[in-house]
Amino acid sequence: SANQNPAGQPPTATYDSAFLKACRREPVPHTPVWFMRQAGRSLPEYRKVREGVPMLESCTRPELVTEITLQPVRRHGVDAAIYFSDIVVPLKAIGVDLDIKPGVGPVVERPIRTRADLARLRDLTPEDVSYVAEAIGLLTAELGETPLIGFAGAPFTLASYLVEGGPSRNHEHTKALMYGDPQLWADLLDRLAEITAAFLKVQIEAGASAVQLFDSWVGALAPADYRRSVMPASAKVFEAVAGYGVPRIHFGVGTGELLGLLGEAGADVVGVDWRVPLDEAARRVGPGKALQGNLDPAVLFSSREAVEAKTGEILAAAEGLEGHIFNLGHGVLPSTEPDALTRLVEDVHTRTAR
Ligand code: CP3
Repeated sequence: SANQNPAGQPPTATYDSAFLKACRREPVPHTPVWFMRQAGRSLPEYRKVREGVPMLESCTRPELVTEITLQPVRRHGVDAAIYFSDIVVPLKAIGVDLDIKPGVGPVVERPIRTRADLARLRDLTPEDVSYVAEAIGLLTAELGETPLIGFAGAPFTLASYLVEGGPSRNHEHTKALMYGDPQLWADLLDRLAEITAAFLKVQIEAGASAVQLFDSWVGALAPADYRRSVMPASAKVFEAVAGYGVPRIHFGVGTGELLGLLGEAGADVVGVDWRVPLDEAARRVGPGKALQGNLDPAVLFSSREAVEAKTGEILAAAEGLEGHIFNLGHGVLPSTEPDALTRLVEDVHTRTAR
């Protein structure tokens, strides 16, 4: 793969970046920083180019995707770009009747709850998402030494939207299926694992330097249920892309009790939300994995001094970790002041310069 650097091969443009070094747990010139949901509604230049273009349509336009993905790199000087898309894009691409409703999130017209429904989830082929490879080709040319992170939704989080029919607080239909029909549940997650793996392969083969699997809502589960009913599918996704040698990041919200299992599923980097300090997260994850996190995105609404103090606490907790990528504990909130993000990148870079 273009991303690997086996002996005797010239390194790719991004190979020596601080971000990829931290993912590999190698020494870094400074702690790398990027933000989940860094491209999007917090930026006026984003709102401008998105005017009149529905969210899912914007994801199919390579020039627009390229511009939106580059905006936070230009503005904040982050150490990595994240491909502008959404976790439901591969589902839309195989014909699932869903849309993203502004201010609501993904909504599925006919939820998936029976074995007959499952037959509607067909395989994803590269041709279904040809605009993704095209956009990544444009992007990597523009990004040069800045790595591009590809991503996908994890089987559980995708299933929660498909089974509920939209966003959910309690995931009651999802859990009813998981506990009530374990075989159908396992088959659904396995199907989603295959679609997700195919979608990540398209991104890596087009030039993504790392991938993140978002299992945003998996914190709703107890560890024993995660291990039994979800981990096999997520592990299948990680295993499917292991051969490319690109770092694999695994993230969820409210996953303090699951951190060890998120690593065990096959991640090289475990994302941590703000509820567990990074030194404690390192104990829970164990050796051999880098950590990513973990400033509470709401802290960015407080004073400069408060943000700097919290940043200092995180960097202190990360002292001595083998690999640390600074990030928020969840996505950038839409009304975040963009300058607060720019200052945060500068602050982390300055304080960790070696
Ligand atoms: O991080 C980035 O900058 C890349 C873009 C990105 C989007 N969605 C664009 C988007 C990424 C990485 C995602 C992932 C995503 N989508 C997740 C996992 C991350 C997380 O936050 O936990 C989830 C759960 C979704 C599902 C989803 N899509 C939600 C909950 C929403 C928000 C609904 C709303 O409007 O409040 C979306 C829509 C969405 N995805 C928007 C963007 C920029 C907003 C729609 C718009 O700008 O019109």
